[in-house]
Amino acid sequence: MTAPLSPAASGVPVAEAFAALGTRAGRADPYPWYEAIRAHGPAVWLRPGRLVVTGYAECGRALRAPGLRVQDAAAYDALSPAWRSHASLRAFTSSMLYSNPPDHQRLRSVVSFAFTPPRIRALESVIGEMCERLLERLARLGARGEPVDLIAEFASRLPVAVISEMIGFGESDQVFFRDVASAIAVSTDGSGDPAALERADGAMEELSGYLAELTARRRREPRDDLVTLLTRVHDEDRERLSEEELTGTLMVLLTAGFETTSFLIGHGVLRALAEPVLAARLRSDPAFAAPFGEEVLRCEPPVHVTSRTASAALDLEGVEVAAGTRLTLILAAANRDPRRFTDPHRFDPGRFGAGRGGERPLSFGAGGHFCLGAPLARLEARIALPRLLARFPGLRPVQAPVYRDRWVVRGLETFPVTL
Ligand code: HEM
Repeated sequence: MTAPLSPAASGVPVAEAFAALGTRAGRADPYPWYEAIRAHGPAVWLRPGRLVVTGYAECGRALRAPGLRVQDAAAYDALSPAWRSHASLRAFTSSMLYSNPPDHQRLRSVVSFAFTPPRIRALESVIGEMCERLLERLARLGARGEPVDLIAEFASRLPVAVISEMIGFGESDQVFFRDVASAIAVSTDGSGDPAALERADGAMEELSGYLAELTARRRREPRDDLVTLLTRVHDEDRERLSEEELTGTLMVLLTAGFETTSFLIGHGVLRALAEPVLAARLRSDPAFAAPFGEEVLRCEPPVHVTSRTASAALDLEGVEVAAGTRLTLILAAANRDPRRFTDPHRFDPGRFGAGRGGERPLSFGAGGHFCLGAPLARLEARIALPRLLARFPGLRPVQAPVYRDRWVVRGLETFPVTL
């Protein structure tokens, strides 16, 4: 695992360490820079009005504080009304992820019942079957010893298949959704890349067109899926769910869950192959998949960072935060806070083993915006990892995997393996 503090990151000022996270090298290995920031304190000023938080307690408190708000449409308007010309940003700001109370609860309550732990547990056998079909397909692709990309051919396919089934998208359209969701997701990752934003807008237009047709079809032929449900809610009461919010909700379910879960599975395989004893345990002891997955989430969280703005002054574990302050919450650093996790850079699934509940990592956030799909993502990883390793005991990396060159949502872009 990454050295806690590389010589380059050692002793650098906060602003320099933070700036490094915006470089290709910093994105390739952000952990030493997190430690460089942490060396100045768990919540430190980047400049007046801008706080960077690496502490576990501080991030947890910030995520739960009612006075800290996500960037919503009104906040974007205050920055520049030009954002409204971007279809992808409009859709995101019409979703729960980019809404504050009271809209946030209204939007979340429309779909939250479908993601409760018992509802998700009930999907276990369906997800198991989907996983088996994908493993069968993978076996065919790699039958003659050719390298296959584990991310494109397996890790990204399972989450898309699952959420497509829940939403009600056709099976034949899943590759289209994966590509569209990938393009759209970058519009929120703060990279500010205009070409990527243009691609995201194009993909959003395509998705909106598809969704308009699908909702019309479900009005004629209802089914037991989320599109039918959301269309009904919208038709009955537009105040509860407007047209843009309907699209925004479906879009956020598709985009929030697929790359993140794909990265969780990808990191899980990478970690298991790096330590054969862990791979062997995953094959032989299905109960081990849960603590293993939790430790993967802690050490390599797919979402590294989120942000909030203070609508009122607050005390953040001893740091005075004035109204208007923007907070960058580095979840990936909070997960390695030595005040919370002993020997935090060591990969140790035993932290979450039986009888040791352990302190949960902040990989799914906390508070009002706590990830709606957390039980689903955990279940998918718990099903996928042992089955993949058991089915292909000879699974080997062909070369080092390639990380996606992004900071906010970080994970493996490609991972060529032989089976
Ligand atoms: C390993 C996989 C996943 C990770 C690491 C992850 C991470 C997160 C995080 C950190 C947040 C909170 C963001 C914030 O507070 O600013 C979040 C919110 C959310 N996630 Fe996930 N997520 C994952 C999988 C999923 C899945 C599978 C779904 C749904 C199918 C999903 C749907 C959502 C939604 C709808 C929200 C917004 C909740 C709200 O604003 O109330 N996520 N996720």
